Amino acid sequence: MSLTSSGHVARRTSFCCFFFTSLALLCVFVTNAEDPYKFLTWRITSGTISPLGVRQQAILINGIFPGPDIICNTNDNLMINVINNLPEPFLMSWNGIQQRGNSWQDGVYGTNCPILPGMNFTYHLHVKDQIGSFFYFPSLGFHKAAGGFGGIRILRRPNIPLPFLDSTAGDITVLIGDWYNYNHAHLKDMLDHGRRLPPPDGILINGRGPRGTTFTVSQGQTYRFRISNVGLQSSLNFMIQGHTMKLVEVEGTHTQQTMYTSLDVHVGQSYSVLVNTDQPLKDYYIAVSTRFTKRILTSSAILHYFCSSHPASGPVPHGPRGQLDWSLNQALSIRTNLTANGPRPNPQGSYHYGQISVTRTIRLANSAGLITGMQRYAINSISFVPSDTPLKLADYLNISGVFHVGSIPDQPTGSSAMQLQTSVMGAEHKSFVEIVFENSENYIQSWHLDGHNFFLVGMDKGGWTVASRKQYNLEDAVSRCTTQVYPKSWTAVYVGLDNRGMWNLRSQNWPRQYLGQQFYLRVYAPGSSPRDENPMPPNAIRCGKASLARCKAPLKFEDHHRR
Ligand SMILES: *[C@@H]1O[C@H](CO)[C@@H](O)[C@H](O)[C@H]1NC(C)=O
Ligand SMILES: *[C@@H]1O[C@H](CO)[C@@H](O)[C@H](O)[C@H]1NC(C)=O
Ligand SMILES: *[C@@H]1O[C@H](CO)[C@@H](O)[C@H](O)[C@H]1NC(C)=O
Repeated sequence: MSLTSSGHVARRTSFCCFFFTSLALLCVFVTNAEDPYKFLTWRITSGTISPLGVRQQAILINGIFPGPDIICNTNDNLMINVINNLPEPFLMSWNGIQQRGNSWQDGVYGTNCPILPGMNFTYHLHVKDQIGSFFYFPSLGFHKAAGGFGGIRILRRPNIPLPFLDSTAGDITVLIGDWYNYNHAHLKDMLDHGRRLPPPDGILINGRGPRGTTFTVSQGQTYRFRISNVGLQSSLNFMIQGHTMKLVEVEGTHTQQTMYTSLDVHVGQSYSVLVNTDQPLKDYYIAVSTRFTKRILTSSAILHYFCSSHPASGPVPHGPRGQLDWSLNQALSIRTNLTANGPRPNPQGSYHYGQISVTRTIRLANSAGLITGMQRYAINSISFVPSDTPLKLADYLNISGVFHVGSIPDQPTGSSAMQLQTSVMGAEHKSFVEIVFENSENYIQSWHLDGHNFFLVGMDKGGWTVASRKQYNLEDAVSRCTTQVYPKSWTAVYVGLDNRGMWNLRSQNWPRQYLGQQFYLRVYAPGSSPRDENPMPPNAIRCGKASLARCKAPLKFEDHHRR
């Protein structure tokens, strides 16, 4: 557990009021032509790997698994040309990258047509006002079980300080996740036949099984480790034998710097820790083990001290045996450093989220059940089914019959029967909303909202009631994009819906997401301004009811005119 815990005393040193911050946020939508561009070309192929000793097909990016890290600075424009050389359609999505006014680039099936085999698509990601650690992953089907993921690292701009030692001896991406020896197509097939998946076969650390990865460090230095859980369904505990970790960043928020001996990282979450290599000259185990599972899977990597000739010794350390209370207490101990700056020079605390009036409460209850004998998962009794046309395109091009706003209720429906829907919830642009995730299942959930970070104001065991609001942290809750919800527990977040577009809200548990536990939040207000939302990009791929074939006649007409 936390060794030294800085107090939870509220600090308010900034006088910068919410109004001022809103003005600053408005400027966010104006694309700054001066922001630097970075060009990347990614060739997506299929290749054979055997991380757990069993040969299987994986998704490679430029020939490697996991994919390359994206390393960029706050406000960079990333032009990523994704060339699909797989024999099937493909999309890449960007966990935690907000893409203001630009859900066109989100790379999920509700916003983008798939990149067909042999075709390419250039994503334009503007990492405006973001800093910290995130990751990317392939979003279609069950591709995420085949790799194709990698780290995203957004560094500070020059002259914007970091609230901790910047001159670390190394900045290291650590991708941890559960893994199956089955190919992704086989797993998808099981789900398509209404079956549940068996437990995963093991855990990978940077794409390799037990002791497969070595991180070489020098003694007497400080290293930054960026840990992301890129797996399919397992909460994982991360620890380094003989070392403590100083938590410094959570999905773009600089935290109060607290020491931990081990850290629970739930599916889809990212953390940065600083580690001092101040131990005797030998090697140490980095241990990752599943949490909240009947059978505990464990894996390890090696922290190799440069010049050490002593291998890691002793048993591979294991995470805490305590389950819910230990993990819940750790989660509640993670706080924002209000005086530290984030991507901008002003302190993170200047937003004062606790003083903004909530205009709407959305309560989301997850459930599992069968529809005609097939396994499905739902939110407020609605189980999502994709349409033949991305929702964003249908919305923009005024194509009817694809979805309707309000096809999912914003409150739990008690014991109503589960229904299939292409569910879209409407939300007013610039509204400030409370979302309560209510988990009555004996199962650990992880929820993610695209396009936004939310303030994690509270979580606890039991059912949520209005009285639960009394225990909300309205001072220094952490702002992030993915939160766990413990078994038979609730989690509440506040979110400023300041990003117009069609945004996926999903379970990060991939079988659940695939079988319906997701929907789209349409953040909208009448009247469109290019300041609020980008128009459809000229390179957008068309498909379904948005195919160009539908527009053949008018196009010919225009051609005729041009001549
Ligand atoms: C596909 O790649 C080519 C370069 O290889 C590029 O010129 C073109 O813009 C890309 N197409 C899309 C839709 O991004
Ligand atoms: C918070 O950030 C400030 C400013 O960068 C730093 O001096 C301080 O040590 C940090 N406090 C904690 C508890 O992390
Ligand atoms: C869709 O309908 C809206 C409102 O009627 C209109 O302003 C907009 O131009 C239409 N968009 C397209 C692409 O036809």
